[in-house]
Amino acid sequence: MHTPDIALESKGIILVVDPEAGSREHLCGMLRHHGYEVREAEDEATTLNALNDEPIDVVVLDLMTADGNGIEICERLRDNITFGRVPVVFVTANDEKSQRIRGKEAGADDFLTKPVDDLELAARIKNLVLVRRYYQHIENDRISLMRTVEEQTGLLSKAMIEIGRAKQTLRRFNEEIIVRLSKAVEFRDDETGNHVQRMSRYCGLIAAHMGMSPEMAEAVRIASALHDVGKISIPDEILRKPGRLTPEEMVVMRRHAEKGYRVLTGSESSLLELAATIARSHHERYDGTGYPQRLVGKDIPFEGRIASVADVFDALTSARVYKRAFSIPKAMEILEKERGSGFDPQIVDVFLNRTEEIKNIMIVYADR
Ligand SMILES: [Fe+2]
Ligand SMILES: [Fe+2]
Repeated sequence: MHTPDIALESKGIILVVDPEAGSREHLCGMLRHHGYEVREAEDEATTLNALNDEPIDVVVLDLMTADGNGIEICERLRDNITFGRVPVVFVTANDEKSQRIRGKEAGADDFLTKPVDDLELAARIKNLVLVRRYYQHIENDRISLMRTVEEQTGLLSKAMIEIGRAKQTLRRFNEEIIVRLSKAVEFRDDETGNHVQRMSRYCGLIAAHMGMSPEMAEAVRIASALHDVGKISIPDEILRKPGRLTPEEMVVMRRHAEKGYRVLTGSESSLLELAATIARSHHERYDGTGYPQRLVGKDIPFEGRIASVADVFDALTSARVYKRAFSIPKAMEILEKERGSGFDPQIVDVFLNRTEEIKNIMIVYADR
């Protein structure tokens, strides 16, 4: 009797692998009778083809296939990533223990002995289809979980990229504000000069060679441009006085360090906080005779010690109404003399070793 396969009513698709058409048809008949769809194969090639063609639920595999090796087919099947989990029932000619052990090692899930009993076949196939469904369920859950994780990871990395971009934009704006503000200060103090340009580049140069990271050295370069921002509070007659200042005028002038600090401090921007530190400490001296806090040695912020060397060097090598510009060797000699008294000795050493870079900065940013 041949019952047609009806997919909608099928309890599952069973692949029967047997070299003998007669015993294959016998097994297929029983399976159809129990409501399964069946497919047939006789050797390794036809078995793998059938498994590739559609989702098989259980393989019923005769130990003696047409090519004589059911064990190898089972092993090959287990190694396959696509259908490696399909349950396999071995049909053996006898109940021999050694055959069962080999079958187990090859990855068989269950055994049937010929002649196959109809009820036993039905019970074992039913169990294995359930196992198959269970695995499919887990696999589907795993795939959907993986998709969700992938989606979320994608969203997260997109958000991280956006945040990174926003941070860069914010940093660029911060830097631009600092550069523009420093220009405003420079216009008032030193209309024709490029003191701020040179001094801040000397600072960046020293910072880069004092072991700071490139990002930090760049921050020091940008922030140091505001070292004299406090001068906006100094009256014109003192700020622009052609000639030396009186002691009283000097007192007023010296206030620019603390005033600059007050203009810049309290910001959430680390760059502005750095600028505030430099504004306050760029006139401190290593021996404690500087201003405004008379800090000594390493108590002076590192960036302030850097700025002080850069600032004095540029003042020495620039012409003023009341003095001519010193040559580079002369200015370096003065720094060297003040090594350890006016300035951090290590910073002086680093700076004096960068003559070529210093000359380049002086050429590119020469006074107009
Ligand atoms: Fe200053
Ligand atoms: Fe300065």
